[in-house]
Amino acid sequence: MRAGILAASAVATGVAYRKLNPVARGEVKTARLEGVISAPAATNAATGFRVDEPETSFENITHYNNFYEFSTDKEGVAAAAADFDTKGWQVSVEGLVNQPKVFGLDDLLKISPPEERIYRMRCVEGWSMVIPWAGFSLSKLLGVVEPTGEAKFVAFETLLDPRRMPGQRSDVLNWPYVEGLRMDEAMHPLTILASGLYGRALPPQDGAPIRLVIPWKYGFKGIKSIVKIKLVAEQPRTSWSEYAPNEYGFYANVNPHVDHPRWSQATEQRIGESGRRPTLMFNGYEEQVGHLYAGMDLRKDF
Ligand code: MTE
Repeated sequence: MRAGILAASAVATGVAYRKLNPVARGEVKTARLEGVISAPAATNAATGFRVDEPETSFENITHYNNFYEFSTDKEGVAAAAADFDTKGWQVSVEGLVNQPKVFGLDDLLKISPPEERIYRMRCVEGWSMVIPWAGFSLSKLLGVVEPTGEAKFVAFETLLDPRRMPGQRSDVLNWPYVEGLRMDEAMHPLTILASGLYGRALPPQDGAPIRLVIPWKYGFKGIKSIVKIKLVAEQPRTSWSEYAPNEYGFYANVNPHVDHPRWSQATEQRIGESGRRPTLMFNGYEEQVGHLYAGMDLRKDF
């Protein structure tokens, strides 16, 4: 019986994030990223590129993770993923595009210099962080491959390799992990491909070498360790909505007014803080993205 995994961890998160009894924490050593660009402060309020809230510690961002390919124990992911080898990584960008291409990681990262994006991250389970990512807008990659007029959605896929990702030897999810966005969501400047955090290359537990970050959506949309990006005409399958369609929708926009069937989404536990804080509509990015959903029933398209 696979049901209820996120539920169980959500309950555990609410009461028992161990600020007072920290678990053993390993060192994380990834390369420093060169030339990370910070957006001019004057533009941050309008763009949402840099939220003005205390950043979650590097320790917590790298030792409290969801990455089921390695472990379903949030505090066990870092150790389980520590030796994940990303040498020779490639990302295939294909489907309804004029210029399909298999990018080596270096080629992909050359598309645009890394920009610092300090985003809120709200997990569907009810915890949140503030993470200083380094990355660039997905729209820049899409511009290079030139989507055709038929492309309406973008489908993403994580590596499938049970030898390197031991969690894939269990059937906790259907592997590989898959996600998707509507074209306008994918083209929004807040949607980034992240290759780093805190000015360093992404550690394995956070989705090395490249992952998606969509700050107004629940964290599960932020698919890690991507190997395939496919432009498609129909709404693609997504791992969590396939797992429990009544609990996890395709859109997964952060919404304090639409509860998860098994818990409230009105408040959240910011990791490293005590007490709960109100959850914001679209995770605080309503001004930037609210128009994408004008006229939609967000209870139906949750
Ligand atoms: N991507 C893959 N491939 N596998 C996963 O298990 N978990 C998701 C998302 N991306 C997940 C994934 C969930 S539920 C969340 S909340 C975020 O990653 C967590 O990202 P973080 O560990 O870097 O905070």
